[in-house]
Amino acid sequence: MTANTLSDLYRPNHDEAAKQRFVGVLKGYANQTLEQHLAEHYARELEPPFVALHHRAPANRSEARSLFEADSLYQLWGSMVYASQSLMWQSVGETCRRIGPAFEARAAAVTRRPRGSLQLNPALNLPEPIASTEIHRQPGGYYHAERDQDLHAALIYFGTLELYRAAKGLTAHAPVGEPGIGRYIASVVRRRYPDLQPRRILDLGCGPGTDTIAYQEAFPDAEVHGLDLSAPFVRFGHAWAEELGVELHFRQADARQTGYPDGYFDLIVSHILFHETWHDITPKIFFEAHRLLAPGGVFLNADVPYQPERLSIPKQVTNDWQVRNNGEPFWTGFADTDVPALLLAAGFIEGNVVADYEPLGAGHYYFFGGRREH
Ligand SMILES: C[S@@+](CC[C@H](N)C(=O)[O-])C[C@H]1O[C@@H](n2cnc3c(N)ncnc32)[C@H](O)[C@@H]1O
Repeated sequence: MTANTLSDLYRPNHDEAAKQRFVGVLKGYANQTLEQHLAEHYARELEPPFVALHHRAPANRSEARSLFEADSLYQLWGSMVYASQSLMWQSVGETCRRIGPAFEARAAAVTRRPRGSLQLNPALNLPEPIASTEIHRQPGGYYHAERDQDLHAALIYFGTLELYRAAKGLTAHAPVGEPGIGRYIASVVRRRYPDLQPRRILDLGCGPGTDTIAYQEAFPDAEVHGLDLSAPFVRFGHAWAEELGVELHFRQADARQTGYPDGYFDLIVSHILFHETWHDITPKIFFEAHRLLAPGGVFLNADVPYQPERLSIPKQVTNDWQVRNNGEPFWTGFADTDVPALLLAAGFIEGNVVADYEPLGAGHYYFFGGRREH
């Protein structure tokens, strides 16, 4: 790589890096240490009076929420989570606004004679409520662009990704821009389906595409595609891949209606797409994935492991708070979905359907999908 590559250009300066480190520590403290204190506090102080009154523990988040809402430790936790999220956008936004013009100029230069491709669809109807939701409270959301070259939405998402994951304990510990999560998912695919030799791979909801590269690394003979609703994200992914000299094919489309022919892919993956898309459209995405798979093809998705039956009451309540207050409006819809039933309804057959958990860092990922019959 030459000097001033896209990766070189994304460098927080001294003061920005100091602020971002502080935000990382604050987020980690609020999301992990303080949340752990809150869980212990619930067991010691909040649950016993409820049990004394009702002769049983609260059954679910709805029943427990009012116990928490009046509690000052819970209020402190919520304030810290909210404030640290705001500080994350402010501090990373500062870097992105400073480097934005040079980054966009470099992106334009490296995509002049591309190896891969980029297909945008300016007429695409972005579905509601996804289009108007600022996920994670990202200012302007994932889809905002003021000009054709505008990469700010993707740049700020990219800059916060590792801070965000690390604070939740769900990190592959890769430096910013390295495809740590993609490599992790590819390793799970290889371990679970050792006979799979994909000719074409699709990363659904690929975001800014920096992890899509991992599938090309893991399966060098395959043609790798990334698809996302967001134009700034796929434009970013295209430039990032071209800078690295990797042939990837990006498309702006809705995962419900991708436009690829039947049986086009041998492997379809996604990372944290489904808890960020409206749960009503999940069944349609499963149908589309089944249609796109060649015989013997694999559909495997990694997402948040927040199914209520495996969460303690405090975790159910804090997650619910994130849904209501911290830009995660689709979390509970996804967590409450009967994923295996929808996979079966989409055409995957019993025995080929997957829905289980894999460890990563301090947490777990929910892996689900299916293999199409040979
Ligand atoms: C949390 S991001 C994940 C991005 C990327 N996979 C990553 O790991 O960073 C979720 C992505 O899903 C995309 N998305 C949500 N609904 C979609 C849909 N119906 N079709 C295509 N992309 C969608 C969003 O635009 C966003 O980029």
